[in-house]
Amino acid sequence: MRRTLVVGNWKMHGSRPANAELLAGLLAARPYTADVAVCVPAVFLTETAATLAGSDIRWGAQDVSAHEQGAYTGEISAGMLHECGCRYAIVGHSERRAYHAESDALVAQKAQAALARGVTPIVCVGETLAEREAGQTEVVVKRQLSAVIHQLAHCAAEMVVAYEPVWAIGTGRTASPEQAQAVHAVLRAQLQAATGRADTMKILYGGSVKPDNAATLFAQPDIDGGLIGGAALKAADFIAICRAA
Ligand code: G3H
Repeated sequence: MRRTLVVGNWKMHGSRPANAELLAGLLAARPYTADVAVCVPAVFLTETAATLAGSDIRWGAQDVSAHEQGAYTGEISAGMLHECGCRYAIVGHSERRAYHAESDALVAQKAQAALARGVTPIVCVGETLAEREAGQTEVVVKRQLSAVIHQLAHCAAEMVVAYEPVWAIGTGRTASPEQAQAVHAVLRAQLQAATGRADTMKILYGGSVKPDNAATLFAQPDIDGGLIGGAALKAADFIAICRAA
């Protein structure tokens, strides 16, 4: 039985006062039946760690460098994230693929760098609207996941996968539970073929998850929780999603 995981991706939102209020709300609403985590902007990791330390709410980053250390201005290594107590690092989010030209190969290197320092990568895959309409959804997500599995070999079973159809992110247009489940089943079969342990691996859905659609999505057999953007910025909404698990 896989325990549901709900991860809030704050993206480039937040401020010290707003974060303090949001985290206080999440802490006050414990206990949760799901595992709960927040992936915050890197500059807020230390404060987030101090606030959440000793609780069962986890925290993580939204990206990680593929490099271990060195002259890479602006980059943040997996070792640094580990020092900040990060449990997770999102890698390959479609916004990074689109706005920072991240390739499948780079995403795979980042996932490997995270795992090497004990940080669990949340590997994002997902098709654009044009790709879906061209009937390419399965080809695209399998290609994206394949790059990571190939790079990670035996330790691929330690990662989390997030299926995020690009057309559903921040648009209010959620994939139907049936659409999402169909892709999750494809991804789980691919993970099973590669690792033999897919029944223990979490595959999250992301893309306009809200309090009123979370329970139906999370009830699908291969959807193990969510990667939540906009709705993770309001304590009441995020708590309601965590409770829908
Ligand atoms: O990482 C989160 C996803 O991009 C989903 O964002 O919930 O605002 O659609 P959203």
